[in-house]
Amino acid sequence: MRIILLGPPGAGKGTQASNIANEFHITHISTGEIFRKIQKEGTSLGLKAKEYIDKGLLVPDDLTVEIIDDRLDRKDCIEGFILDGFPRTIIQAKALDDKLKAKKISLDLVINIQLKNQLIINRITGRRICENCGENYHTNFYPPKIEGKCDLCGGQLFQRKDDQEETIKKRLEVYTNQTQPLIDYYKDKGILHTINGEQSIEGVFKDIKIILQGVL
Ligand code: AP5
Ligand code: MG
Ligand code: ZN
Repeated sequence: MRIILLGPPGAGKGTQASNIANEFHITHISTGEIFRKIQKEGTSLGLKAKEYIDKGLLVPDDLTVEIIDDRLDRKDCIEGFILDGFPRTIIQAKALDDKLKAKKISLDLVINIQLKNQLIINRITGRRICENCGENYHTNFYPPKIEGKCDLCGGQLFQRKDDQEETIKKRLEVYTNQTQPLIDYYKDKGILHTINGEQSIEGVFKDIKIILQGVL
């Protein structure tokens, strides 16, 4: 199964992509996670990406496409994958089309998670991430058992640098201008499914499963 998860920042793409990857045994690919990883490693690519991420801007298309191009060639993508946070521009979507065509495969569906801006701000400002294993928490909606510590590995939880209110506003603006047009792009291809992202984590996942089971 080959899936794209679309949606504004904080929509729950990462949360739901992990759920889908676990239940359907497919590879979860998040460009945001890849960028944060190479940034932490201090590679030149990572430091270049950081300049954009910290300002709430998109990393340039050529750099992003190159990263995805390599990632999709790895063995763990053969059985399927779920893309979380890619594509984010029409240029990236077209590059993905070309890549899949060359591999003689196609997308099964695109899931668009929709929700109001105010909810987005609440979700992002409360998000905490494990510095060790990357698990996501939320101070109100999905708190860890012990404050500040990861339930899975005991690692410290931290807040992403781009999760401050001013940067979130910029990310939302960038989403509206550059990413939202992808909704029509995939609607025209007949593979778009829109989901109400204003439900609980479990409620959203239930809706996603109904759609996925329909295409299996
Ligand atoms: P990225 O990491 O992809 O960030 P994003 O798209 O802004 O989305 P988030 O990760 O903030 O949110 P999410 O939708 O994954 O929500 P989550 O599940 O965490 O990208 C970061 C940056 O990298 C970009 O700004 C850009 O600079 C760069 N970048 C990445 N990809 C790129 C690309 N393709 N091209 C160019 N640049 C790129 O949920 C949020 C919180 O809410 C969590 O705390 C969670 O626990 C909670 N939550 C989730 N669902 C629910 C629910 N249903 N109810 C209550 N709480 C919930
Ligand atoms: Mg995410
Ligand atoms: Zn952890």
